[in-house]
Parts: sequence; C-alpha cells; structure tokens
Amino acid sequence: MTLMKILGIETTCDETAAAVVTLGEGERGQILSNEVLSQIAEHAAYGGVVPEIAARAHVEVLDRLIARALQRAGTTLKEIDGIAVAAGPGLIGGVLIGLVTAKTLSLVARKPLLAVNHLEAHALTPRLTDGLAFPYLLLLASGGHTQLVAVKGVGDYVRLGTTIDDAIGEAFDKVAKLLGLGYPGGPEVERQAQSGNPERFALPRPMLGRRQADFSLSGLKTALRIEAERLEPLASQDVADLCASFQAAVVDVVVDRVRVALRAFAGVAGHPTALVAAGGVAANGAIRRALAAQAGEVGLSFVAPPLPLCGDNGAMIAWAGLERLRLGLVDDLTVPARARWPF
Ligand code: KG4
Ligand code: ZN
Repeated sequence: MTLMKILGIETTCDETAAAVVTLGEGERGQILSNEVLSQIAEHAAYGGVVPEIAARAHVEVLDRLIARALQRAGTTLKEIDGIAVAAGPGLIGGVLIGLVTAKTLSLVARKPLLAVNHLEAHALTPRLTDGLAFPYLLLLASGGHTQLVAVKGVGDYVRLGTTIDDAIGEAFDKVAKLLGLGYPGGPEVERQAQSGNPERFALPRPMLGRRQADFSLSGLKTALRIEAERLEPLASQDVADLCASFQAAVVDVVVDRVRVALRAFAGVAGHPTALVAAGGVAANGAIRRALAAQAGEVGLSFVAPPLPLCGDNGAMIAWAGLERLRLGLVDDLTVPARARWPF
C-alpha cells in the first residue's frame, strides 16, 4: 500500500491541535508533526474551560497551526491523502470551527473528509504508538468521560462500564478547585499527592465489589470536601494528605472496576491482547503503575500512550482518520458537528 499521509485537526475542548501522521513500520503510525496549542492560560482564571473563550481562541490560531503542522511534516496540502477532524463529542463552538475548517480544506483541495469521534481517537492511540492488535480492554478516562470498553475493531466497541456521575478527570479537577489548586486539576493533585500520606483520611471507595463495571465518584468527592471543611484553614500538609488519600481511593476503585471489566470482556470479545489506559487521566503515574501491576498479575501487557499523546492532540485524530480511510469509511460534507456522540 502506498504511504498515506493524513492531516488531523482537534478543537473539541481547550487544546487547538493539528498533526500529520502516516503509516509506519509494524502497523504503527509515524507522527510527522504534532502541533498543540493549549489554552490553559486563557481559562485558568475561571477554574475551568469557558466555551465562548475556547471557540474564539481556536479561530485565532487554527489556520496557522495547520500550516505549521504541514510545514514541519515537510509536506503540503496537495500531498495529503485525507483530512481528519474531531467532529465531536465536545464543546460545540470549538467542534464547529474544526469541522468547518476541515470541510473547507477537503472541498478546496479535493481530499477525503474523515469525521472522527474524539473518544474513538483516544481509544485507537495505542495502535498508533504500539501497533496493538484487537481486541483489547480500554480504560478511557478524561475530563468528560470514564468508560471501560472492549475494543474489538475500528468502529466495533462494546461498553462494559461507565460513570454514573462524575468523570475521573472531572473529579480530580473538582478536588483541585476545592483545595485551591490550579487548573487543570489532575496534574496538580498528583503532584501534591507525592508528598502526602494516603492513609491519613479514610475516604470511601464507591462501587467496590459491584458486579457491573460502573464508576461513581461524586460520593468520594463529597467525603473529601467534608474532611477539608473540618480542617479549615488548610495547612499545606493537609492539602498534600487530602490529595494522596483521594488519589489512593481512585486507584483502588479503578483497579476493582477493571477487574470486573476483565471478567466481562471474555464474554463479549474473548481474550484481550492488552489492558490499555487512554485519555488525560492516563497521564497519572499512580494509576498507570497500579494498572501495570494488575495487568501483570493476570499475564496481560499494559499499554498506555506516552504522556504527550495521553491528553488531547492532533496525531490521535489523524491516526483514527487513517484507520478509517484504510477501511473506506469516508464522510461527505453533510456530516454534522456533535456535542454528544457516544461511541
Ligand atoms: O483527554 P483530556 O486531555 O481532555 C478531555 O477531557 O477530553 O483529559 C483532561 C483531563 C482533565 O480532567 C485533567 O485533570 C485530567 O485529564 N488529567 C489528570 C492528569 N493529567 C490530566 N488526572 C489525573 N492525574 C493526572 N496526572
Ligand atoms: Zn480527550
């Protein structure tokens, strides 16, 4: 097969990203460029992403970012074989900007349009980085999503569990806000936890032992808030201990839920090739270590993308587009932008 070069565009949240990816050796992808501009500074003052600000920031930088991604990849729009874009789920203003840009490029340069589900792109990232074969068990954990999924093929996913309230990343973000830490909260909570005592606070482990692989995190967050209010004003060691105790509880819950999902996996997809963690929360070292140990115990390998590919990026969108183009799954210009798009 001739080498395909795909341009990927990501604007669903607070990262504007563009990348060029091609097929490398061993069924892996090869990233030719991967440009990401984070809007963290624009949103930090509000303690979360402000949709209107995000959309305006995407408009300001996207065209330049695409030009840079093409240039760094040593290519031009003419040589590109497909334009992939995250068409959702996400903040609709941002999604529309990425999608309209991709449609325009597709129309003008006469290239196939590949409308990618942002979650699917996270889910397929271990194939980009490691050439991982189907089927695998995926823990997809980000600011907006928490899912355990049997990934059987491109477009062939069976959801084994989800959260009934907060997403894991969202819980980290809310805890950070509550403790006066910066945004995004995950990395801050993890940093604080490194100097904290995980046993100081006996926080609940919601859903532990349940037969369905679902999550619930709001009770844990509330328990932490009660402890924090009891201690006001918080000393810096209190903050570190609260973060360590919270993170330890999340790790216990994740390991337990994955255990249940592994059991369910056999019934829907047979034997997994690996346990995979993806999405922004997969950057968390404690969660990665616990999952690696758990996979090892049952003789599975553990795969998680390198840190820059855990969070939102254009390379994962380009790769998902490449996988779709190979299967002939091309979209036309009527494809809608979707704020919600289960996968
Ligand atoms: O996938 P992502 O970049 O964006 C989407 O939500 O789609 O994930 C961002 C989320 C945020 O909630 C952030 O706090 C969380 O991932 N996160 C972490 C860590 N790094 C990022 N959570 C826990 N520990 C981390 N080290
Ligand atoms: Zn994401």
